[in-house]
Amino acid sequence: MKTFKLGNQHIPAIGFGTWKLTSIVCTDSVKMALDIGYRHIDTADIYGNHKEVGIALKNSGLKREDLFLTSKVWYTNLKREKVIDCAKRNLDELQTNYMNLYLIHWPNRNIDIRETVEALEELKRENLIMDWGVSNFNEHHIKDCVDFGFKPINNQVEFHPSFYQRDLKQFADDNNILLTAYSPLGQGYDLNLPEIIELSSKYGKSAAQIILNWISSKNIVVIPKATIYEPIKENFESLNFTIEQEDLNKIDDIKINKRLLEPDFSDFNY
Ligand SMILES: NC(=O)c1ccc[n+]([C@@H]2O[C@H](COP(=O)([O-])OP(=O)(O)OC[C@H]3O[C@@H](n4cnc5c(N)ncnc54)[C@H](OP(=O)(O)O)[C@@H]3O)[C@@H](O)[C@H]2O)c1
Repeated sequence: MKTFKLGNQHIPAIGFGTWKLTSIVCTDSVKMALDIGYRHIDTADIYGNHKEVGIALKNSGLKREDLFLTSKVWYTNLKREKVIDCAKRNLDELQTNYMNLYLIHWPNRNIDIRETVEALEELKRENLIMDWGVSNFNEHHIKDCVDFGFKPINNQVEFHPSFYQRDLKQFADDNNILLTAYSPLGQGYDLNLPEIIELSSKYGKSAAQIILNWISSKNIVVIPKATIYEPIKENFESLNFTIEQEDLNKIDDIKINKRLLEPDFSDFNY
């Protein structure tokens, strides 16, 4: 399985996204993903599905050390006590004694980032998390961390053909930060882009496979979400072929630049 180095760990290059998966559907989809071969699951406190994910992990019969588990602490819970309480509650819900990666879900400039990072470092010292990172951080948010002597090793951001965050990727490379692409399929919309459809027919691969392969070719982790067996399997099999450079460039050159997720509290344009 393709992996990327992340601090002292190896993170599987493809993970299974779980946003909007709840109840028994979530347990079934995560269990299907694990049976197919995924070893990396992406969840978050705000998704409200930790218990269902935990049941699927348990039912899979897989050893904990063979799994990579990412969760996230919500932006309103970034004060020290809340970070610690959330992490401990999340571990109970997931029925595990550590998370491989714990991310600050969104930046919150009303809470001193030092306080949050110090809490995360404390969790790390106690082996409750193996490492921490950030999500939805732009260059200026990361600079805030760096100014205080902390550098996240991972930034999970929106990234797909119609929202190719070229500058943020360059900044991540320059600072040795691994990116994870969320909404890698553009929540389904990018599957219909003409450039993707053309390459899908040229390579005999699905539109989703072309997109995930393109993102992975940039050494970015992908975490597509799907609910039923066929797309879950199809996505998992997206990294085992090679797209020629000139075709990768065609996707790079797509002119649309449309962010899908920009909640009121987001702070992208600061
Ligand atoms: N850090 C953050 O703030 C943040 C934000 C957003 C997402 N995320 C993470 O990233 C994960 C993925 O993002 P996402 O869920 O927004 O969107 P996505 O993975 O880009 O797209 C999911 C949509 O595409 C469909 N789909 C999946 N595979 C397909 C295939 N092979 N063929 C056709 N359709 C397919 C899914 O179908 P179904 O409807 O059948 O499932 C769903 O409608 C999330 O689940 C979450 O874990 C993180």
